[in-house]
Amino acid sequence: MDSIVVTGNGPLSGQIPIAGAKNACLTLMPATLLSDEPLTLTNAPRLSDIRTMTLLLQSLGAEVQGLQEDQVLAMSSHSLTSTRAEYDIVRKMRASILVLGPLLARHGHAEVSLPGGCAIGARPVDLHLKALEAMGAELELKEGYVHAKAPAGGLRGGVVEFPFVTVGATENALMAATLAKGTTVLKNAAREPEIVDLAQCLRKMGAQIAGEGTDTIEIQGVDRLGGATHRVVTDRIELGTYMLAPAICGGEVECLGGTIALVESFCEKLDAAGVGVEETATGLKVSRKNGRVRAVDVVTEPFPGFPTDLQAQMMALLCTAEGTSVLEEKIFENRFMHAPELIRMGAQIDVHGGTATVTGVEKLKGAPVMATDLRASVSLILAGLAAEGETVVSRVYHLDRGYEHVVRKLRGVGAKIERVKGD
Ligand code: UD1
Repeated sequence: MDSIVVTGNGPLSGQIPIAGAKNACLTLMPATLLSDEPLTLTNAPRLSDIRTMTLLLQSLGAEVQGLQEDQVLAMSSHSLTSTRAEYDIVRKMRASILVLGPLLARHGHAEVSLPGGCAIGARPVDLHLKALEAMGAELELKEGYVHAKAPAGGLRGGVVEFPFVTVGATENALMAATLAKGTTVLKNAAREPEIVDLAQCLRKMGAQIAGEGTDTIEIQGVDRLGGATHRVVTDRIELGTYMLAPAICGGEVECLGGTIALVESFCEKLDAAGVGVEETATGLKVSRKNGRVRAVDVVTEPFPGFPTDLQAQMMALLCTAEGTSVLEEKIFENRFMHAPELIRMGAQIDVHGGTATVTGVEKLKGAPVMATDLRASVSLILAGLAAEGETVVSRVYHLDRGYEHVVRKLRGVGAKIERVKGD
C-alpha cells in the first residue's frame, strides 16, 4: 500500500487550484437516472469515489464517460438495464444510496444494498427511507437490500419533516420529488451548498424547485426531466483543507476558486485564531506571518455552521496553538480517530465522548501514523507539514477518495511531500 512522506520545512507560498466538490458530484451524478436525455457535468473532480459512482451507474445501464483532460463527465441514462444496486459496489461508498430516490421516481421500483463508507459512526439511512415513504413508497429490508416500490401511478408529493438535518436524505428526497405527482415540501432540509448546486442542476433539467439554501424546499413534480450541462460547485472542504496549510506552516497561499460564502463559519474561526483570510478576484488568500495561532473552540454543525468534514484538519492546526481549544463533534459520534495519531506526533489531546480538548504544544514531531478515514488522513498530512522531521502517513487509499493530486498541489506551494509506492 502506498504511503505519503511529509517533512516539515517552513512557510508556504503560491497558489493551489481547488477542484469541483466531491460531495456535490456524488449527488449530481445519480440525477442522470431521472432523465433519458444526457446530463453533462463539468469541473468534476478526479477521485476514486467518483469512479465508484461511475461503476454503480454503469452497472444500472447508464453510459458514463469521463473525459480526463477537461474534467467533464458525460452521462446518459437513456436505456437502463437494471434497477438493482449491488452490494459489491455500494459497500465501497455510502453515497451509493443516492441512486435510490431517482431510480424509484423514474422506474417505480429499485433494490439498493445498504451502504458502507467511512467508519465514522453508525450512519443509518432510516431518514432517506422515511422521506420516500412519505411520497407513497413501499419499502422492505431483505437480505441487506432495500426493496422499494412506488404506488401505481408513481410517487406522489408529500410533506417530509426531517427530525434533524441530513444532507443525503435531503438530496434523495429532492431528486425523487422532482418526478412525483403534486407538491412535496421538505422541512428542516439541509442547506449545504451541495444541495443548492443539485437544485440548480435539476432546475436546468426542467424541475420546479423553490427554497433551496433555506430549511424549507418546495418541489412541484413534473412528468419528465430533460438533459442539461452543469458546472460542479467548488469543493468547500478541499478549500478549507488547503487554507489550513499556510495557517499551520506560515506563509501566504491563494486557494483559487474559493469564496468566503462557501466557508464563512470556518473563516470566522481562522480569524479568531489569528490567521488572515482575504477574498481576491480569483480566490481566497490565506496568510499567517508571525508567531503561533491562538486557541479557539469549535462546534461542528450543519451548514452554515462549522463543517464536520473540516474538524480533523482544524484539530491539526489547534495542536500547535497557544492555549487550550475545545472541539465538539455534533454530527458523527466516532469522528476523533485522528486524535490518537496526532498524539503520536506529540499533540496533547483528551477525548471524552464527542468532545476533544486540545492543549497546544510549540512543535509537533514527525512520526509514522495511519490514516483512518478520508478527512483524518489529510489532517495527518497537514500536521506533518508543520512537524519537526519526517511523518509517514500509511493507508492513504482513504485520501484518494476525496483529494486529487494532493502531493502535486502541496509541492506547488513549497511543501516537502512525496508519495511512496507500496506493495
Ligand atoms: C454528507 C457528506 C459527508 C458529511 C455529511 C455531514 C456526502 C457524500 N457526504 O454525508 O461528507 O460529513 O454530509 O455534513 O455528501 N443520519 C441518520 N439517518 C439517516 C441519515 C443520516 O441518522 O437516514 C445521521 C447520520 O448518522 C449523521 C447525521 O444524520 O449523524 C448527518 O448525516 P448526513 O447529513 O445524512 O450525512 P451524509 O449525507 O451521509
